[in-house]
Amino acid sequence: MAAGARFEEIYSRTKLASGLVLFTFLATHLINHTFGIVSLQAMDAGSGVFKFIWRSWPGTVLLYTAAITHPLLALFNWLRRGHYRGIQWQGWMQLALGVCVPPLVVDHVIGTRGLHEALGVNDTYAYVLIVQFVQEPLIGLRQNILILIAWGHGCFGVYYWLRLKAVSERVWPFLFGAALLLPMLATMGYLSAGRAVLLAMQQPEWMEAFRASLNWPGPAANDFGMRNVGLAYQTMIGLLGLGLFGRLLAAALRRRRGIVTVSYPDGRKFRGLAGSLTVLEASRAIGYPHASVCGGQGRCSTCRVRLSGAGAADLSPPDAAEQKVLDRVKASPGVRLACQVRPQGDVAVLPLLPAGVQSRIAYGNTSYAQGSERRIAILFADLRGFTKLSEGKLPYDVVFVLNQYFKAMGEAVDGAGGKLDKFIGDGVMALFGIDEGPDEGCRRALDAARRMAAALVQLNDALKMDLDQKLRIGIGIHCGPAIVGEMGHGSAMHLTAVGDAVNTASRLETATKDFGAELVISAEVADRAGAAAMAGMSWQRESVALRGKSENIEVLVAGHIAPAEAGMSATVAATS
Ligand code: FES
Repeated sequence: MAAGARFEEIYSRTKLASGLVLFTFLATHLINHTFGIVSLQAMDAGSGVFKFIWRSWPGTVLLYTAAITHPLLALFNWLRRGHYRGIQWQGWMQLALGVCVPPLVVDHVIGTRGLHEALGVNDTYAYVLIVQFVQEPLIGLRQNILILIAWGHGCFGVYYWLRLKAVSERVWPFLFGAALLLPMLATMGYLSAGRAVLLAMQQPEWMEAFRASLNWPGPAANDFGMRNVGLAYQTMIGLLGLGLFGRLLAAALRRRRGIVTVSYPDGRKFRGLAGSLTVLEASRAIGYPHASVCGGQGRCSTCRVRLSGAGAADLSPPDAAEQKVLDRVKASPGVRLACQVRPQGDVAVLPLLPAGVQSRIAYGNTSYAQGSERRIAILFADLRGFTKLSEGKLPYDVVFVLNQYFKAMGEAVDGAGGKLDKFIGDGVMALFGIDEGPDEGCRRALDAARRMAAALVQLNDALKMDLDQKLRIGIGIHCGPAIVGEMGHGSAMHLTAVGDAVNTASRLETATKDFGAELVISAEVADRAGAAAMAGMSWQRESVALRGKSENIEVLVAGHIAPAEAGMSATVAATS
């Protein structure tokens, strides 16, 4: 692995690890606050465990290494980043909240652990609450706001971390609930314990015991606090100044490298300083719609592009993290992540996924996206005699009618819980039961057929002035094993199914013409869907020979589809 790639990998892992340590620290701190709902004593008992963990030497090393490393890495990232265009709102929120934490937290750390370690102050919750809740309520308010800020920053970090993992969909509702509930309970605990301290302070013996246990060193504590808080702020300002200087220097160096042009398929061009922007940032700068599900963090692969042109040869090779993502989507040579690549020369960009693509499609993190065999229901629908119907019509009228039809059919499939696979000419292919299983898939496919019939009635009514004759439809449904997965290329990538069951469903749709019927379903669909799904239609059982099949297949034929919500019972007649 190249040194640069190794560095990038270490950088992102360290940032994540340090962030998780700080988030864990904060979560345990908040949990400790919630004990205040019970009592001040419970809060201090919890604090004993909290301090046992975080004030042990391993806990201390872990916590303070993370507390120093995490902001320094953020500062480093700010230094090397050309600019912040193209960041999603979550990224901005995380950044803004994170920037607020160090200046707000420093005096709390020095006033508690700092005084404890340096001067032996017994920093119990009673001590903290007397200072924050009783003597300086504005400080208390600020500390509670700080907790919300730090918690929000951490939650956005966890969100970005889990967002693209398969596990995140399952745990997200719990995490979201915990993210809201914990700070609320912690605030309640803080206020409740604060009230308890107020009451306790009215008892002289409690105050006596408190003073005796506090081990307050007098003015030395104030000197210590002032000196160290000042030092901490000076350090922060110094680091910021250094960062600012570094950014100016980096910008000057980039300017010396010259101007590059990034060209897009629709003819738009971006011109900017060489190496100053990633391709994704260039897209954002000119308003070119470009997929970026992870917000440009190099994790989702949705921004991937094929680059060509003179500058394509001068690009630095993908680092380990980018290569890992590219390998995961089996990207062909020449494909790069737009959010990671910074052109040093003129390049032409071809985004490989549509702008609205979801991470599921890009990363293939559903169990079937990469291809799996499933027993599903497949529906084919076709307009009857549309070629004849369109004769003598203006192309515009044909397109208008077809689009109305596609919209109605698409909504029917969606409404029944199916996945619209594709429109083929004036036909429709849809899949049902990919996640729910074949029985539910068959029920949904029949429901879709009813919805299509109902939609067609409405469509015929709406278009009666435009059409010489009514639109008619033929639908075939079959259930069987099919290979389901994301197939296609570039922007034509989509979820589809292939296999013998798909061909059979298509042939059943063709068979509707032979039967002069609106709907033909295989016997398996009828068996799986059950009587309720078949209700309201008159079915004829038949045995048909389908092209490419050595044996006849049992089917049920409905001359007329009962539109959705019509009918109560099914009648099935057999012919031999
Ligand atoms: S935007 Fe997600 S990898 Fe580039």
